[in-house]
Amino acid sequence: MSSVPFHRVSHSSRGIVNKDTLRVKVWRSATRGLAAFDVPRHESQTVLDVVTFIQRQLQPDLAYRFACRVGMCGSCAMNVNGKARWTCRTHVSKVAVNGELEIAPLSNLPVIKDLVTDMSAFFDKWSRAKGQFSGERTRHDDFARVSPESAPRKAADAGIECIGCGVCYSSCDVVTWRPDYLGPAALNRAWTLMNDERDTQARERLRAVAGDAGCHSCHTQATCTERCPKHLSPTAGIAGLKRMTMKAAREGDL
Ligand code: SF4
Ligand code: SF4
Ligand code: FES
Repeated sequence: MSSVPFHRVSHSSRGIVNKDTLRVKVWRSATRGLAAFDVPRHESQTVLDVVTFIQRQLQPDLAYRFACRVGMCGSCAMNVNGKARWTCRTHVSKVAVNGELEIAPLSNLPVIKDLVTDMSAFFDKWSRAKGQFSGERTRHDDFARVSPESAPRKAADAGIECIGCGVCYSSCDVVTWRPDYLGPAALNRAWTLMNDERDTQARERLRAVAGDAGCHSCHTQATCTERCPKHLSPTAGIAGLKRMTMKAAREGDL
């Protein structure tokens, strides 16, 4: 996408640019370039508010995605001035540079249209990493009792709040270099399940993440952890998977 020269188009909502106006460049698929818009500034304005203004007032065919507006669903993630973020929780005042914003779709994912990416590969990798819980109890059994104080429970808790937004995946250089790499979110999910005492697929999951495109491809520079809006640390979980797979390999248990 970045190799295509940007085609700039200008649309003004009020005809003039002043300090109460934000200059916003937005990726449009039709022209394979950035289109520029002038958007009125408001107090407490979020980047999602800006995109919504453009779609409602200036370009009705602009495609973008959101649902909850409060940082719960993860669907509004986009690149804002070069970094992946939740747009609904990103205030313009924190990210605008000289009154300007550049908004593009998430990196490392195919673009369906404008700011909307196809997340299929992202979620397929959760499946490849055996990111589904597999228990053995039935509805007729009592609930499992897992102590909140146990070390595995604490490790699982530390990664469990992932909402699958793709910010970490979009920020990961290794995914860019080798698209088959499972990536931080799928590996973080695998780590939480490896620490779930009720799960029965530990060996299969370790095999799934130990391969060439798995945890050992991570370079541990922690961009995923730095960018995760939930303040999770996929890097720490991946390091845990590296230790587990090495131990299992040494013991002939992989
Ligand atoms: S780990 Fe964080 S950044 Fe990555 S998908 Fe989950 S919530 Fe989003
Ligand atoms: S620490 Fe690993 S998973 Fe996270 S961004 Fe870097 S290479 Fe990707
Ligand atoms: S719209 Fe749901 S997290 Fe932003």
